[in-house]
Amino acid sequence: MPTDTSRMSPSITAMIRLDHMHALAAFHRYHATSPWWRKQAIVNSTCAALEIHAQLEEEIFYPALAAVMGDDETLAKSAPEHNEMRATINRLRAMGPENAAYDALFMQLMREVIHHAADEETVLLPAAERALQTQLHSLGASMTRRRLQLLGQRPAEIALNTMGTFPVASFLIGAMLVLGVTHCLPKAREPRRAREH
Ligand SMILES: [Fe+2]
Ligand SMILES: [Fe+2]
Repeated sequence: MPTDTSRMSPSITAMIRLDHMHALAAFHRYHATSPWWRKQAIVNSTCAALEIHAQLEEEIFYPALAAVMGDDETLAKSAPEHNEMRATINRLRAMGPENAAYDALFMQLMREVIHHAADEETVLLPAAERALQTQLHSLGASMTRRRLQLLGQRPAEIALNTMGTFPVASFLIGAMLVLGVTHCLPKAREPRRAREH
């Protein structure tokens, strides 16, 4: 039975789509003519966000989906595609933005991510929305809790590369809903009743 806080959480499929959208927006902020420090900040924050996203899918989304989809070709190739993406990320980190091949390698990462996200959005997410209807919000809440843990393990990396590239604001709104901290916010004042004399 979903709790009140998990019902308030965005669904896991909405969160996954939002992560994909943010990754795509980050790719589009990268320009070959940008200074090296900006390229590196975009690459670092995009790669950290992609690694966290992939881990969350592998720990929470794919197992839930496997329980209802069984042997599915798209689901079966999803984790290996994450590993290909991780390998490209490791090559980027080892290379550095001053290398002439850096731009092309980041574009390769973009192609891999777009291809992978398209499979998820056209096959896996619709399948989840059909087969996991009653669990989508509690899975979303689990994903947010786990995301907070993972972000907490790499605070310096996220803080250093956040400027304009990481979807912190939208994530924090979801996290507040899941963790039920909205009661900490100042309440709107009730209108004063006119005194009747
Ligand atoms: Fe994925
Ligand atoms: Fe994904």
